[in-house]
Order: sequence, then C-alpha cells, then structure tokens
Amino acid sequence: MEQVRTIVLAAGKGTRMRSDLPKVLHPVCGQPMVDHVLGMAREISSLIYVVVGHQAQKLCCHLDHRVKIVHQKKLLGTADAIRAVVPELKKYSGDVVIVCADTPLLKKESVKRLLTMHRKQRAACTILTAIVPDAAQYGRIVRDDKGQVVAIREEKDASPQEKDIQEINTGVYCFRAKDLSLGLSRIALNKKKKEYYLTDIIAILKRDGKIVAASRLSDAREGLGINTRKDLSAADAIMRQRILEKFMADGVSIVDPSTTYIDAGAKIGRDSVIRPCTVIEKDVVIGKRCFIGPFCHVRPRTRIKDDAQVGNFAEISRSTLGEKSLMKHFSFIGDATIGKNVNIGAGVVTANYDGKNKNKTTIANGAFIGSDSILVAPVSIGASALTGAGCVVTKGQRILKGQVVVGVPGKIIKRKKAL
Ligand code: UD1
Ligand code: MG
Repeated sequence: MEQVRTIVLAAGKGTRMRSDLPKVLHPVCGQPMVDHVLGMAREISSLIYVVVGHQAQKLCCHLDHRVKIVHQKKLLGTADAIRAVVPELKKYSGDVVIVCADTPLLKKESVKRLLTMHRKQRAACTILTAIVPDAAQYGRIVRDDKGQVVAIREEKDASPQEKDIQEINTGVYCFRAKDLSLGLSRIALNKKKKEYYLTDIIAILKRDGKIVAASRLSDAREGLGINTRKDLSAADAIMRQRILEKFMADGVSIVDPSTTYIDAGAKIGRDSVIRPCTVIEKDVVIGKRCFIGPFCHVRPRTRIKDDAQVGNFAEISRSTLGEKSLMKHFSFIGDATIGKNVNIGAGVVTANYDGKNKNKTTIANGAFIGSDSILVAPVSIGASALTGAGCVVTKGQRILKGQVVVGVPGKIIKRKKAL
C-alpha cells in the first residue's frame, strides 16, 4: 500500500466517563483503549500522530517513541485537534487517516477497505459509517436523493428527521492531505457547543464540488465509540468474545465462554482447557495441554508451562509454574519460580509480601509442598524436598535437595532416603 499517515485523536476531556483517568487510558480487556487503536494504526501507517490535550502528561508517559505527539492547546473540538497537526503535513501530499482513540474495536481490515475505496473513487474524503439501532450519541450521515453524502449532522444540531437516520459517523475518515488542510481552515465555531467540529468539513468539501465517499462497516460494533462507562463495558464484552473465539479457533477449549475472561495479549497453547469462572490477565503465557480452573485467577507476568494444571480457587501472579506441575486446590502463588513435576498441595500460600517488598520463592523440580504449607518469602525449596502439612517455612530459609521439613515454624528433621 502507498504511504498513509494516521492521526489518533486523544485530547478530549472524556467528561461523560466521570473519571480522573484520561478516557483513552481506560482498559478494554486489560489494555488501554488507545493501545488497541495504535496497534491497528501501526498496521496501516508509515507515521502516526497522537493529539494530546487533557491530562497530556499522563498520556505522554504512556506513549512511546513509535508515535509523534502533537499538543492541542485549548480543547476546542475535533477540528481544532486536527488543526494542531496541519503544520506537520505541509510537505505531505498523501492520504491521512483519522481515528478516535475511543474506538478500540476497529479492525485494520475495515480501515484498509476504507483506504481502497478512497483511492478508487479519487475522493477528497471517505467516511467510515455504520448502521446502528441507537444512533443517539453519534453524528448522522446525511445523504441527498441520489444517495450521495452531503453532510454529517451532530445530535445537538440535528432536525427531528435527521435524528431518525440510523447511518452514523464512526469518527474514522480518510482524507487527501491537501483537502483536509484547506477544508479545516474554513470550519466555523459551532455556536451551541463552542467547538470546531471536524464533521463540518464534509459539507464544505461538497460545496466545493469535491468527491466525498462512504464505506459502510459490515459489523457496526467495530465502530462503537466509548463515551461512558456503559459503552466501556459493552466494548469489553465484544472484545472478550473476539478473544475467546480466536482461542477456540486455535485449538483451546473454553468450557464456558460466558464466565471466562481473558485479556488481550494473553497466549494459550493448543489442547489446553479453560474451565468456567476463570480470569486470565494480560502478559500471561500458558503452554499446551494445561488445565486451568474452574474459579481461578491467573495474573500478569505468569508463565504456566506445558501439561501443568491450576485448579479451583487458585491465584497465581508474577510466577512460573513448570512442566507437569500441579496446583489444584485453593492456593496463592506469587513471585515464585516453580520447576517441573512439583506438587503444590491444597491451601499452599507463598507469603510473598512483607509489607515493604515482594520477595521471591523458588521451588525446584520434583518438590512436594504439603497441604496448607506457608512459604514466607524469600525461601527456596530444593529439588524433591518435602514440606509437611501445615508447615511454615520461615523467611530466608533454604530447604536443600531432598530435605523434609515439618512444623511451625518448620524444623528440618531428616534427609529423605531415596531421591
Ligand atoms: C465524534 C464525532 C461524531 C462521531 C463520533 C464517533 C465530532 C464533532 N463528532 O463525536 O460525529 O459519530 O465521534 O465516535 O467530531 N478530541 C480531541 N480534542 C477535542 C475534542 C475531542 O482530541 O477538542 C478527541 C477525543 O479524545 C476523542 C475523539 O476526539 O478520542 C472524539 O471526541 P468525542 O468527544 O468522543 O466525540 P463524540 O461526541 O464521540
Ligand atoms: Mg466519542
């Protein structure tokens, strides 16, 4: 594809979220919504601008060198946000895609289709539209008798007839750079909202006799713009379904999709089975043929190797569970490195936090951690060592290979005969 630059709008206040966190940093399936949009944008563009404004500092800390940050000084609406980027486009004559950072469900295929239509029709602007049952929070696509797009009308300015239009603006557009700059300079302040609406550019371009095209989404849900917490939960549910369907297509069994929550970016190997009421967060890698759940919480930075099992009421965080190791009943494992063929008995807890620091636990291959053992980190348990039921292994203890430790606090009593 030819060069494309993308502008991601992320400067708005997000007032309707009623939040101290910038709207676009709210997570959808564990990942800030702006990251979903940037992931898509990276697939189609040679250069990405992110327009920041409200709580710019917080957002800038989150963004990396792969994007060019542009500051919108006063938050005077979507057209004003794009105006902040115009100086950057002076020597550029290609196409510019505009997306809102609050539209995380958008797929790259749809934007590619938009670009293809834009180029085929030699349009000045092509809008990505969708047909939705409830158009209330979107700009409506106004067409003439011939079906040509003539304007986008925002809810506040729409006539009763226009309010009935179900075709909406997703906030995604493709512009020829020159037409964008020229059109923007002529957008007037919307008196009701005291903002410059990017959507007013459509009528301006049409009046100039330019071609404005529209590409319609086949799945309108992709265009969901998140303005409220209700929208956020709707987007989360749609993304979750996508994630689960992808895992199932790749050979992972999800016994009950309606109670399974897997974050974007988690990885699970073939023939693993995810049982009901399980939460798997971001940055988790689960191997092949694992059994996870029911009622289990796998938290970030966890690695579960092939053929391992994590069962009922178990929580595992920032830890590695080695091949064929089992933790099947109500345990907490945190900041631990667990080798192969280890048995974590029912009710085992790694006491990893001493009030100040998170401390590490190491459990070597073949160790057997008896039911209700408490491992007060930092501790290390040697290969094939055994802790008795209810044992407390105190802070700093090193249980060596094959040692058997029992009691409270745990006392070393002997060395196992056969290792
Ligand atoms: C906007 C569109 C509407 C469309 C909808 C799609 C306008 C006037 N309206 O409405 O037609 O149906 O998106 O979801 O464009 N932003 C800035 N600077 C600002 C204001 C907003 O960068 O001064 C950013 C926001 O961070 C957000 C995006 O622009 O990512 C859209 O702003 P938002 O307030 O959500 O507009 P909508 O009311 O959803
Ligand atoms: Mg919006």
